[in-house]
Amino acid sequence: MTSQVLVEEPWPATDVLEPYIAPERVARVDTVLRNRLGSVTAVFEDVFDPHNVAACVRTCEAYGLQDVHWVLNKHDVRMQSSVAKSSDQWIDLHRHNGTAEGIAALKAQGYQLWVSDLQATETLDEIELPPKVAIVIGNAKDGISEEMRAAADRRYILPMWGMVQSFNLSVALAITLDGLVKRRRAELRARGVRGDLPMQRLWPLRRRWLEYGMQNAEIVRRNLGDQGTP
Ligand SMILES: C[S@@+](CC[C@H](N)C(=O)[O-])C[C@H]1O[C@@H](n2cnc3c(N)ncnc32)[C@H](O)[C@@H]1O
Repeated sequence: MTSQVLVEEPWPATDVLEPYIAPERVARVDTVLRNRLGSVTAVFEDVFDPHNVAACVRTCEAYGLQDVHWVLNKHDVRMQSSVAKSSDQWIDLHRHNGTAEGIAALKAQGYQLWVSDLQATETLDEIELPPKVAIVIGNAKDGISEEMRAAADRRYILPMWGMVQSFNLSVALAITLDGLVKRRRAELRARGVRGDLPMQRLWPLRRRWLEYGMQNAEIVRRNLGDQGTP
């Protein structure tokens, strides 16, 4: 096995809460944050079934994505908490009012839109990975809208060999992320890093994550003379 030289930035300071949290917990938070991806995100167009929503959020969190986008045309988004398993507290959920608004926001952030689409002919491994990619998943009944299809940088199909017409959308998401996240992580490893979320985002997240499970964390911070994010 080759040893790897990591070139990650150190944390800008020590968090005052650290002495009050089990070292294993702090180490786990740090490992997960260091592996976080900002260059891959998932977008759900009018996905509203609470079980599907929860399964998707949980899958995104497990693969190390930090941002998840919901494009809402007809429905609001609710989550089945027994399926989500608190995954929603670790990710940032962004809501967009309608497909046009969602597309504009994602493009403004520099994401290529890769739309999973039963009408597509290209498969994922045929497409070169861009610096930032947003995977778009459609609604269980109607699939992807024409507006989203027209805005897509790429459209892809996940090959199937059975009688059914499609995968469940959370399964389509997992198959997609499995291939794509492995490719992105291999690129990052070659650069000597594990994740690609910038420090401006990592540090405030670390502060927030360390507070989970601690009662009155804000008051404790104040009493310890915490000056806030450096
Ligand atoms: C249950 S499918 C939607 C089926 C819908 N009746 C249609 O015609 O698109 C939900 C979503 O999962 C994704 N999906 C499911 N199976 C897929 C596949 N084989 N290839 C690409 N995307 C797929 C697509 O984003 C799709 O919109």
